Amino acid sequence: MEKIVGKEVTIHFDGSRCIHSRNCVLSRPDVFVPNVKGEWIHPDAAPADVVMHLGYNCPSGAIRVTRNSDNADTDTPPIVNTVRVRENGPLAIEGELDIAGATGSVRATLCRCGQSKNKPYCDGSHHAAGFEASGEPSVQEFQTLESRDGVVKVKPLPNGPLNIEGNLEVVSGTGATTNKVTKTFLCRCGHSKNKPYCDGSHAKVGFEAP
Ligand code: SF4
Ligand code: FES
Repeated sequence: MEKIVGKEVTIHFDGSRCIHSRNCVLSRPDVFVPNVKGEWIHPDAAPADVVMHLGYNCPSGAIRVTRNSDNADTDTPPIVNTVRVRENGPLAIEGELDIAGATGSVRATLCRCGQSKNKPYCDGSHHAAGFEASGEPSVQEFQTLESRDGVVKVKPLPNGPLNIEGNLEVVSGTGATTNKVTKTFLCRCGHSKNKPYCDGSHAKVGFEAP
């Protein structure tokens, strides 16, 4: 974990969570300078609010920004918990997360191709694996949730799916709400015929994961 203290904001960067979506370096290449040796994060290169937005827009939770004056924190739970299904890529989840007992983060990208070396997190392996999966899952019949926020527990089941418990809206890549759940099982082996949900295929393909 890197921590770079600027005049107004502090940037915390966890490289093990970065999926190289490049939102940061494309939005503000002066704050996150790509392809340089040595110091590449410059919190004072943009106004504090702009740097805060870079934190909110990092899908993996690799970037967290805190404001020095009042400790405002981009790791603040959202009003609506969501999991966004990325075309040919991971599941981008937002909520008050408890991932295999690890709490404190509100954004994460979870492997759904089965190839990550950093499970349950995505490490970008879907690119090399040529993973193909729609970001537009079919719309399910769903009920309005009584509450849309709160803790979302993500429990990776050994050799099986992600067991999810908590208020969660399943959102397509283009922003359509396709389901609202309080409990579901999401495929992480890459083989379900009913993605993003588990259909039991992990057993047939001999999926192995802790
Ligand atoms: S995942 Fe976050 S830190 Fe990594 S490239 Fe994307 S925006 Fe930047
Ligand atoms: S985890 Fe992929 S089908 Fe169950």
